[in-house]
Amino acid sequence: MEQFLKKVPLLFFCAIIPTLAIAVDNTPQIDPVLELIHTLGCKGCHMISGEGGSLAPDLTQIGSRLTAIQIEAQLTTGTASQGKSFMPSYNSLSINELKQMGKYLYNLR
Ligand code: HEC
Repeated sequence: MEQFLKKVPLLFFCAIIPTLAIAVDNTPQIDPVLELIHTLGCKGCHMISGEGGSLAPDLTQIGSRLTAIQIEAQLTTGTASQGKSFMPSYNSLSINELKQMGKYLYNLR
């Protein structure tokens, strides 16, 4: 009996730790592309899916005007560098990040 009582705390931890781990795993995963768009501040200027600013064109339907590649190109060059407008260039992002954003925005339409 004494032997068993010594093991009770151990049994308790064996049961509680996996339960906590499952609870943590259940937190909703944020889409990395959405996080990127948020971090880069696109919505400071652009409306995307009903949320954001009105300084620049709404991007929700951008996929019906530009291809994913053209969107990527817009992100790489921006427009400020050409003196056309004030969109900054995001050419410091990785090719992969640019492609993911191009694809994401293209598929919103
Ligand atoms: C400082 C404001 C600003 C920020 C921040 C900004 N943009 Fe822009 N963006 C603009 C402006 C202004 C235009 C319009 C440029 C033009 O017509 O010459 C534009 C144009 C675009 C276009 C082309 C739209 C079209 O109708 O042809 C895309 C795509 C785009 N932005 C995506 C993004 C994404 C994605 C981000 C975030 C990574 C972003 N922009 C951040 C101001 C901004």
